[in-house]
Amino acid sequence: MCGIVGYVGPGSTLDVLLGGLKRLEYRGYDSAGVSVIDQDAGLQTRKRAGKLSVLVEDLEESPITDAHIGIGHTRWATHGAPTDTNAHPHLGGEHLKLSLIHNGIIENFSELKTELQEAGVKFSSETDSEVAAHLVAREYEKTGDLTAAFRAVVNRLMGAFTLLCIHEDHKDLVLAARRNSPLVIGLGEGENFLGSDVAAFVAHTKRAVSVGQDQLVELRQDAVKVTTFSGEEVTPEEFTVDWDASAASKGGWPSFMAKEIADQPQAVGDTLMGRLASDGSVKLSEFAGLDRLSEVNRITIIACGTAAYAGEVAKYAIEKWAKIPTSVELAHEFRYRDPIIDEQTLVIAISQSGETMDTLMAVRYAKERGAKVLSICNTQGATLARESDATIYTHAGPEVAVASTKAFTAQITAGQLVALSLAWQRGAMDKDHLKELGLELLKLPRMVKQVLESVERMRELGKELKDAKSVLFLGRNVGFPIAMEGALKLKELAYIHAEGFAAGELKHGPIALIEPGQPVIVVVPSPNGEDSLHPKVVSNIQEIKARGAKVIAIAEEGDSAVGKSADEVFFVPQTHPFMAAQLAVLPLQIFALELASAKGLDVDQPRNLAKSVTVE
Ligand code: M6R
Repeated sequence: MCGIVGYVGPGSTLDVLLGGLKRLEYRGYDSAGVSVIDQDAGLQTRKRAGKLSVLVEDLEESPITDAHIGIGHTRWATHGAPTDTNAHPHLGGEHLKLSLIHNGIIENFSELKTELQEAGVKFSSETDSEVAAHLVAREYEKTGDLTAAFRAVVNRLMGAFTLLCIHEDHKDLVLAARRNSPLVIGLGEGENFLGSDVAAFVAHTKRAVSVGQDQLVELRQDAVKVTTFSGEEVTPEEFTVDWDASAASKGGWPSFMAKEIADQPQAVGDTLMGRLASDGSVKLSEFAGLDRLSEVNRITIIACGTAAYAGEVAKYAIEKWAKIPTSVELAHEFRYRDPIIDEQTLVIAISQSGETMDTLMAVRYAKERGAKVLSICNTQGATLARESDATIYTHAGPEVAVASTKAFTAQITAGQLVALSLAWQRGAMDKDHLKELGLELLKLPRMVKQVLESVERMRELGKELKDAKSVLFLGRNVGFPIAMEGALKLKELAYIHAEGFAAGELKHGPIALIEPGQPVIVVVPSPNGEDSLHPKVVSNIQEIKARGAKVIAIAEEGDSAVGKSADEVFFVPQTHPFMAAQLAVLPLQIFALELASAKGLDVDQPRNLAKSVTVE
């Protein structure tokens, strides 16, 4: 939550900052601000409540002098309403020469604020962040050493923070520090960058360095120094960003979400690339980072939101193919009980951003108890990847819309690769059968494309149902997490009540919600294969139809039975039942997108949300 960008170099600082903030706006969009230091005009700050466009317009109407050093922030409010004064940067010092931005929560801000107020400091905002600005400025006024002052203050702060700070007396120095919040450095030619993630600077450089926990950065035009909070110098590892800057632009689509839905054939294909041979055999070189894999007797999947639904789909595949008992845990619940975790547990953490605080904390908890951690992550340089024993990157490219789409289908794909690979390594299934499954997985990008080319009726249904007060979703087996994901998409985008249920649960309570005209979207399992749950779900459809529901079914091509019961049927190609998950979710994404658009809502930046939830 909150996007942070910093720059020092010969280019236009305002262009770098505002461009970076545009690409980070998905992290929070209730206010935005910048500070730059001009040789003559000194420190200049502008900040405005509202989306970044409000700040940009304000700067166009009444410009500040451009400069060669600056910091910028886009906010998701935690302490204090989204107002001009609560927006970042915050200024500190007797002559307000210091400017600071913050992502995270300073848990001990109340004590620190009291201490400062008792010393006569006047606060202009209700934020926790402003204490840090005053503390650094006061410390600096005592010693004249900005880095030492900054270091002294970060050592006093508790909680989660990425801080960036500049001071008018230092026209070539941006200071940064991070604890439990993300920070990445971009290395340019005669210029350097800081960002909450690489999207902040990928338009300028692909050379990046991720900053470790409790580390402090001194960023200058021609030098970058990283030290621990206690002052020891560290040499962080450099990596090359494989995202293309153009991938983080709408490219002619009406919204990032529409573009990212359309990106899914490629996202799934790129996630498979190099991991599945043409004969269907799977090779995950990432497993090399996991020793004693053969001793694993339990898998715990940890994630939040959409990523947790991807984990649910992975659970079915891992248990069926690799025969390892698997559970899925919401990260924020997991560590607040006493989960059974030991050296024989493999934790699989799934996260698009790799910065979700709940997921990171749960991973740390599991590691302390001896578990091995494999992460499935979409963002290079993310904290989750740094803290995992091995990482499988989903190569979905930057996902900018707050509602996750292509990251979800890529996560499911990665989960299926993990399941196949574990099954292969442990000899849990016949290898020829595993290769057949691998070959089926290879067909997915084409099938995803085929589905996306035939969603017109789903678009119309989204528009037709724009005034619905509630939509219910039903599914069984892997269709259950898909139903939950369909409901989540509708809640977050269209702000209408939506629930996903296991179809088998219907008669245990939810059927009481059915009244004439209630829209219900049912993810119908394939009628083929032994143990198919198809007849049971068709019976459920009949039960809700008998009570007046309007039923829209997502079913497999050739399913003739479902058409006799449902009002509308959207067909997806035949494939393995688990891989049908990536196909069945596509019409649900389109449905939510169209319904929200028909209501005139901002589908990329839904109210109250931020893409990356970096506070608990
Ligand atoms: O970055 P992560 O995958 O860890 O994020 C987890 C959830 O916050 C995220 O999936 C969220 O539920 C999305 N907004 C759903 O569209």
